[in-house]
Amino acid sequence: MTLELKNAKLKKWVEDMAELCQPDSIYLCDGSREEYNRLASQMVASGLFTPLNPSLRPNSFLARSTLDDVARVEERTFICSHRPEDAGPTNHWRDPKEMRTFLSGLFKGSMKGRTLYIIPFSMGPLGSSIAQIGVQITDSPYVVCNMHTMTRMGNPALEVLSDGFFVPCLHSVGVPLEKGQKDSTWPCNPDNKYIVQFPEEREIWSYGSGYGGNALLGKKCLALRIASVMARDDGWMAEHMLIMGVTNPQGQKKYFAAAFPSACGKTNLAMMTPTLPGWKVETVGDDIAWMKFGKDGRLYAINPEAGFFGVAPGTSLKSNPNAMYSIARNTIFTNVALTPEQDVWWEGMTPETPPHLIDWLNQPWTPQSKKKAAHPNSRFTAPASQCPAIDPDWENPNGVPISAIIFGGRRSTVVPLVNEAFSWQHGTFLGAGTTSETTAAAAGAVGQLRHDPFAMLPFCGYNMGDYFGHWLSIGKNANPTKLPKIYYVNWFRKDDEGKFLWPGFGENSRVLRWIFERCEGSGAAHKTPIGVLPAPGAIDINGLNISEESMKALFAIDIDKWQKEVEEMSNYFSIFKDKLPQGISEELNALKARLKAS
Ligand code: GTP
Ligand code: SPV
Ligand code: MN
Repeated sequence: MTLELKNAKLKKWVEDMAELCQPDSIYLCDGSREEYNRLASQMVASGLFTPLNPSLRPNSFLARSTLDDVARVEERTFICSHRPEDAGPTNHWRDPKEMRTFLSGLFKGSMKGRTLYIIPFSMGPLGSSIAQIGVQITDSPYVVCNMHTMTRMGNPALEVLSDGFFVPCLHSVGVPLEKGQKDSTWPCNPDNKYIVQFPEEREIWSYGSGYGGNALLGKKCLALRIASVMARDDGWMAEHMLIMGVTNPQGQKKYFAAAFPSACGKTNLAMMTPTLPGWKVETVGDDIAWMKFGKDGRLYAINPEAGFFGVAPGTSLKSNPNAMYSIARNTIFTNVALTPEQDVWWEGMTPETPPHLIDWLNQPWTPQSKKKAAHPNSRFTAPASQCPAIDPDWENPNGVPISAIIFGGRRSTVVPLVNEAFSWQHGTFLGAGTTSETTAAAAGAVGQLRHDPFAMLPFCGYNMGDYFGHWLSIGKNANPTKLPKIYYVNWFRKDDEGKFLWPGFGENSRVLRWIFERCEGSGAAHKTPIGVLPAPGAIDINGLNISEESMKALFAIDIDKWQKEVEEMSNYFSIFKDKLPQGISEELNALKARLKAS
């Protein structure tokens, strides 16, 4: 093999993996537009990509997966730390040595009949001191094209890498081809999926799936699971958070970061069009934030990604126009429906449902059909640079200063529209206590309430108890006047008839305004047992058709229900045993006492 790889460790790793996986050929990605186009044409020829109508959706493609490869697979996701207690009770742990031996068996010959692509990539702006370099090996051209959009990849990343450190990311769809065997359009190995992180070795092995976070290894595997461990070791933070700039009518600007579980509204909030006159929102990132302290003692965030891998259903010109403009061209759609004009469609995209479609499984579909035309976890892959609301500083290598951190989840009851933490420690407790109804972003049941601390349950690469401790220590070591204020929001509270009480989307700007004002030291508020809530009338509802009753219901604190909530939370926290930091127990006890006294 005569690959021009100057990095000795990279050269050796590629040679070893090629020997293991036995591909027919090896290809080093340069990251060029020409390369993208060539691979896309190959996938059109193989049937994986359906080209969309170039006059409606230029340079865009539809890919369809199989029924059994539509989302992340949390049950098949493993953290292989040397000690089980370093993976902790919320992760699936396997012994790293045993797992390596096992995976070597799986990967042996796994790329037969295929090309091994080498993708050098940067998570974060090229050369930023906060960025990290990874190199993914994959046998999926679909992954290569997605990585083109989601990361900065190819020659520029290889140059930044030079002879430095990188995270090796090995990926195979797990379907070797015998001579003459015809490939399927979406090869995957549904019965043998393994999404494996070796946090101490900073290494990733992923087998059997070609979908999203299972296969685009820079995203959840590197930028969250591996990076969370790096962040713990080096005193920074890797979080499942959007980053947004918010400008008030006077032209003052602040940046917020927000952590909501998968498919709970990050992309929508990050790109929102405020309904409040004079307010502006700009997007830095929609899924992941890496945060480090600057010399001025403030927390600065970068978006490690270069694109959006966003949920399609529900995205419309009404709910999220900036997302619609972002996906107008140069976009890969996966598992959405196809119109007779060769454009895309999904539930919630247009006020009227088209009479005839081809559904995501490539079958004719009409509105009479009982099944959904687009898969609920169908997604678009689009360059962040195409977002009309992209922030001028979105690629600033130093990041943007964060004034507020917002947590939230899908809760149809109990949890108010917005709540401000008393302190960093109390805010850490709010993050740790995040609960949310499950969504289609991961395989399994939808709508089940579960704990999802910091929206990091599927993404924390180490013991969640230690992660709580890391958050507390970040607060202890910082200048408290420079730390972001912390909030908890819930756009999803419902009335007795099951209807959302709050209109959400652009109207969420009314809540952002209150948070903005609180950061300025204004914004009327009152203390409650659970936190600081807006004073009656402090949320601007001018021009909003919402009843006084609904506003009351959105902020109602039912002490009985909160006592049950605390009881349940306390049971949950007990799974962390001696890893539960004192700061969390203190806050739990303080909340109990406040509820009792009220
Ligand atoms: P991941 O990419 O999986 O991390 O998801 P995300 O957190 O970026 O979620 P996204 O913004 O894509 O929203 C997921 C779903 O929630 C979409 O179907 C949205 O239409 C819906 N949604 C987003 N914001 C709101 C809101 O304010 N109110 C209501 N009712 N639904 C919302
Ligand atoms: C999520 O599930 O939080 C996502 C989609 O952002 S995936 O990249 O598939 O993980
Ligand atoms: Mn996500």
